[in-house]
Amino acid sequence: QETAKFIVVANRLPVDRIVNDDSTVDWRSSPGGLVTALEPVMQARGGAWIGWHGAADEQVEPFHHDGYDVIPVALSELEVERYYEGFSNATLWPLYHNCIAEPVFHREWWDAYRRVNRRFAQAAADRAEHGATVWVQDYQLQLVPQLLREMRPDLRIGFFLHIPFPPIELFNRLPWRNGIINGLLGADLVGFQTPGHGSNFLRLARRQPGIEGARGRVHLSDGRMVTAKAFPISIDAAGMAELANSPKVQAEARKLRADLGDPSTILFGVDRLDYSKGLRNRVRAVGELFDSGELNPEEVVYLQLATPSRERVEEYRILRDDIDLLVGRINSKSASLARSAVNYRYTSVPRETLTGMYQIADVMLVTPLLDGMNLVAKEYLACRSRSDSALVLSEFAGAALELKQAYMVNPYDIDGMKATILRAVHDSPRVKARKMRAMRRQVFEHDIDLWADSFLNQLEGE
Ligand code: UDP
Ligand code: G6P
Repeated sequence: QETAKFIVVANRLPVDRIVNDDSTVDWRSSPGGLVTALEPVMQARGGAWIGWHGAADEQVEPFHHDGYDVIPVALSELEVERYYEGFSNATLWPLYHNCIAEPVFHREWWDAYRRVNRRFAQAAADRAEHGATVWVQDYQLQLVPQLLREMRPDLRIGFFLHIPFPPIELFNRLPWRNGIINGLLGADLVGFQTPGHGSNFLRLARRQPGIEGARGRVHLSDGRMVTAKAFPISIDAAGMAELANSPKVQAEARKLRADLGDPSTILFGVDRLDYSKGLRNRVRAVGELFDSGELNPEEVVYLQLATPSRERVEEYRILRDDIDLLVGRINSKSASLARSAVNYRYTSVPRETLTGMYQIADVMLVTPLLDGMNLVAKEYLACRSRSDSALVLSEFAGAALELKQAYMVNPYDIDGMKATILRAVHDSPRVKARKMRAMRRQVFEHDIDLWADSFLNQLEGE
């Protein structure tokens, strides 16, 4: 078996294996910000990416892709149910997102989580060269650092959490909290999106017996030291801007605008259909503005894309129905003869199409109730070069710490959001240009290379 000196371990691979009805197989880009961020890192560095290929009960051989090795890990149907949909996305996801939805606790889910984490750790142990760097990603794999260290003490192990790390009071509900903390403490460096998430983790770690800590680090009883620090993730800003400026995307953007009936203002939102994204309140806010006539459906269109996500988890099914209903209600009242006020699509689109949509978006709506970072906000800034543009951003997105000039909203405050959306539509081009310039500079200067370099330099220096 070939070995690698740089390995990324994530639940998702960059591509998903899709088995069609006629049993032919396609590979499709995987959803979510983790994949968007790590793809350019792997293309630049090479190495191996270990992860699940998105289908149940399918054994797939390793293959080469875009300059690195892809090592698929198989999950059974039962493991998909208990480890992925269960523990990862019905226990940890809601718990780590401040219990916006009620987390569900099941002991068999935890057992499956442990078993699958061990399999990922073993796959990394099998592939890593002596002294290699292994970078474990996200909440699905929090036990891997410890398990991997037991198997391979020679490795440098880093961990990055893409989602928020909750405050002690919420985390401590978890019956298996010590297992998770010890799992993470197997890493040399644990990275978070914001300093707040890092201090939540450190506060918990210091409560473990035999552990002492000061200034961003903890000392374990076996003499090891673990550092916790914020590394706000980002995007390949230059790459996205180049794509956005390509003649193909420009033509696609013009066509899109025409297809939408050439409105004078386009409001745009794009999210995985997830309750953390604040879609219910956002749709309500815009709907009320159409209802009251403060936004005129003859002039303004709200384009909202929702990417299918975790469709078998109950909360996600309920959310889908709720949004269908809300959008239907708005359009039955506020549509003009020519078009609907809300153009809502439940689908994912390829990167080129999305880039074209960012280009025609006069006002970008990013209003999560809580989000680790939110890459959509940064992508909009990279792609939309017109100064007459506005980003409406939730103060509860990690990105808000960097994008201070955005039109900031509290996504729980519907009236406040309505007022801010109107401001974002009507402010003078001069005001908007100033905001856009400052935020675009931030995104281009703090891109994905800087993120990966800062994390890996620190890990290798530990
Ligand atoms: N995305 C995409 N096609 C779609 C919808 C979204 O490629 O139809 C990408 C989008 O460009 C972004 C990512 O999905 O890179 C979403 O990342 P974000 O951090 O905003 O949220 P997450 O889904 O990871 O919670
Ligand atoms: C978020 C998570 C990622 C996850 C992505 C898509 O970005 O932080 O770990 O891959 O959502 O979700 P999914 O469940 O489809 O992998």
